[in-house]
Amino acid sequence: MRVGLLTGGGDCPGLNAVIRAVVRKGEFQYGDDLVGFEDGWRGVLESRTIILDVERCRGILPRGGTILGTSRTNPYKVEGGSRQVLDNLRKERIDALIAIGGDDTLGVAEKLGREGLVVVGVPKTIDNDLSGTEVTFGFDTAVQIASDAIDRLHTTAESHDRVMVVEVMGRHAGWIATEAGIAGGAAAILIPEEPFDIEVVCAALRKRHDRGRYASIVVVAEGAVPKEGTMAVQSGEVDAFGHVRLGGIGNRVAESIGESTGFETRVTILGHIQRGGTPTAFDRILATRFGIAAIDAVHDGASGQMVALQAGQIVRIPLSEAVGSSKTVDPALYHGVAEVFFG
Ligand code: F6P
Repeated sequence: MRVGLLTGGGDCPGLNAVIRAVVRKGEFQYGDDLVGFEDGWRGVLESRTIILDVERCRGILPRGGTILGTSRTNPYKVEGGSRQVLDNLRKERIDALIAIGGDDTLGVAEKLGREGLVVVGVPKTIDNDLSGTEVTFGFDTAVQIASDAIDRLHTTAESHDRVMVVEVMGRHAGWIATEAGIAGGAAAILIPEEPFDIEVVCAALRKRHDRGRYASIVVVAEGAVPKEGTMAVQSGEVDAFGHVRLGGIGNRVAESIGESTGFETRVTILGHIQRGGTPTAFDRILATRFGIAAIDAVHDGASGQMVALQAGQIVRIPLSEAVGSSKTVDPALYHGVAEVFFG
């Protein structure tokens, strides 16, 4: 078979491990020709391809990013885009496409599948907010990076008796904030799922200070929102999937804490550091398992399916079950575990 591959959306450590696994099993066990499309759906629209073989994939397992490049291009937002994608895939003689991406990329794959494309999805996002899979690769790496950063901030916070606000990624779901916050011993964790009252946060920090332990770590997900909705923090820029660029809530939270408590407060925005660099062993293994399962799915004719992790096993679920709604933080984890350590 001639199998196409693309990576779409924000990059994520582990993408190269998926590509390598698909290519290895596809070439060696199925005798496939593997064709990579550059820069996500944009490369399909522009018919930009690279030949993928085992030789091309040497050394990429521990490398972050994606050798195929990525973009947030949405063919359904381009005039005649979906037709162009299907025509170009036909011209390239692609029998099946493996789309590696999050909700947006896989949402496009699902729609194209309904238009007749033979397509299999592989879930990816550092945010871990994709439905249907317990976890996505990239998330473990991001949590590790964020908790390492928190460990470092603890020592300087203690030396100066400061409150350190750490802003992490997480647009619709606060998984990174919650898990890195638990791992890093945060005194407060603010996530999109739980609109916060800044005065409640400040009261908890004051209580902590009264007990004689001033230094505090406050972890804020970039998509966290105050209850009253007064902290406007969006840049106004919107991508092809309608997402506003986030960033800045950490600064607003730090300012408010400083003003209200009088405690010296600093802010660190981790940003894309969480998405760069080498994947953890966990993410490499998960990505490799997903890649192998994806090429197997192609050969089993499982079009319109996404590979997923459920109860430790790799399963296939319809793409339609995975896209469209975010997997938000488990309230039992947030309220039952993280919150016990607030203040
Ligand atoms: O794709 C996930 C993500 O990392 C989000 O957490 C974040 O809001 C967004 O991507 C950032 O996107 P960009 O790389 O386009 O700035």
